[in-house]
Amino acid sequence: MALQATSILPSALCIHKEGRSNASLKDTSLFGVALPSNLRGDSWNSQTWKKEKVVAVGPIRAQTVSTTPNTTQAAPKEKKTLRKGNVVITGASSGLGLATAKALAETGKWHVIMACRDFLKAERAAKKVGISKANYTVMHLDLASLESVRQFVDNLRRSEKPIDCLVCNAAVYLPTAKEPTYTAEGFELSVGTNHLGHFLLSRLLLDDMKQSDFPSKRMIIVGSITGNTNTLAGNVPPKANLGDLRGLAAGLDGVNSSAMIDGGEFDGAKAYKDSKVCNMLTMQELHRRYHEETEITFASLYPGCIAETGLFRNHIALFRTLFPPFQKYITKGYVSEEEAGKRLAQVVFDPSLTKSGVYWSWNKNSASFENQLSKEASDTEKARKLWEVSEKLVGLA
Ligand SMILES: NC(=O)c1ccc[n+]([C@@H]2O[C@H](COP(=O)([O-])OP(=O)(O)OC[C@H]3O[C@@H](n4cnc5c(N)ncnc54)[C@H](OP(=O)(O)O)[C@@H]3O)[C@@H](O)[C@H]2O)c1
Repeated sequence: MALQATSILPSALCIHKEGRSNASLKDTSLFGVALPSNLRGDSWNSQTWKKEKVVAVGPIRAQTVSTTPNTTQAAPKEKKTLRKGNVVITGASSGLGLATAKALAETGKWHVIMACRDFLKAERAAKKVGISKANYTVMHLDLASLESVRQFVDNLRRSEKPIDCLVCNAAVYLPTAKEPTYTAEGFELSVGTNHLGHFLLSRLLLDDMKQSDFPSKRMIIVGSITGNTNTLAGNVPPKANLGDLRGLAAGLDGVNSSAMIDGGEFDGAKAYKDSKVCNMLTMQELHRRYHEETEITFASLYPGCIAETGLFRNHIALFRTLFPPFQKYITKGYVSEEEAGKRLAQVVFDPSLTKSGVYWSWNKNSASFENQLSKEASDTEKARKLWEVSEKLVGLA
């Protein structure tokens, strides 16, 4: 992994070295990125780069290094299919999801099911970026309602399209929220949307994907550097920490339990980071439980710092003004929506990225590599417990 940096504060521009972040800093802000190699300081990384295998994939080079233990290398598939692949992308109405939808549609090999809460916005967005009508369908999905998730799956099944790939991309980030807000079923909104909504969706669609005859089936959950405390960005307070999951186990409802997974006081920035840890743990648990049986490739990724997406819409105005130039010119970790979309599209179809259980990242040359997750984000016991608690909350157990 390239050394990860940084945070931006409204009052100062600071780069923190890994493990030495200023504990007095409060992140209503952050989002770290890969620093250029001349600023890299983590030694384990430099060793892994020596083993790179380079594969040309359009404008993106895929480099595969073995840094992730306990994953299964699937042999490249030779099977052919005459039809287009069908990919469901949640939150495809803006930012990374929209850019990925565009990148996939442009290959002519994918039909994108844009699973969005705002139907009109999604239609307009698809039109604006020039996705051809023949290459996408908008379907309603509100991840902040488990009922809506079930309805979406029913509608999808009625359409009788085989499902070959699922991209769990949608997210909310509420760093300035003073009080928690809740999903339809009463879960804190960030974890309820980003984790529980996607948890139910991916579980329900597993069976459908199992039945697909597509040569390479993939289920992807977008992760983030901010949930990984083995990075600089992940060390900017408040840090992700699921604790013993007592808040989640008690219902995350802010009434009978805390609105935070670890049972602590509400903090919107932390709730987002916690939800991203859940996303990365869920991907690995899916891999452990289902990869062999289903041959589905499970993957997560950090696409880079896409500093101008709607994710930061709830941030203070000064942050929104300073964050993009800071990432572009100071940390040089900025990636455009277009570039990030190509990266996620690569995880959807690139034959060199068939390994399951991997958290992908990209270096400054846009070459992919297997990144390492933090101790918590790769804790198998926590992943198992999260799975069991989440199953109960979404009504699967
Ligand atoms: N931006 C970054 O630097 C960065 C870095 C690392 C990881 N990520 C990850 O990238 C993913 C996409 O984020 P982004 O930066 O592209 O942000 P974005 O532009 O705000 O996109 C988020 C998408 O999620 C949708 N969404 C939110 N709540 C939803 C709900 N209840 N049901 C259905 N859809 C919902 C939004 O729909 P509306 O259009 O209706 O609001 C939007 O389409 C997220 O998983 C994020 O954690 C982003």
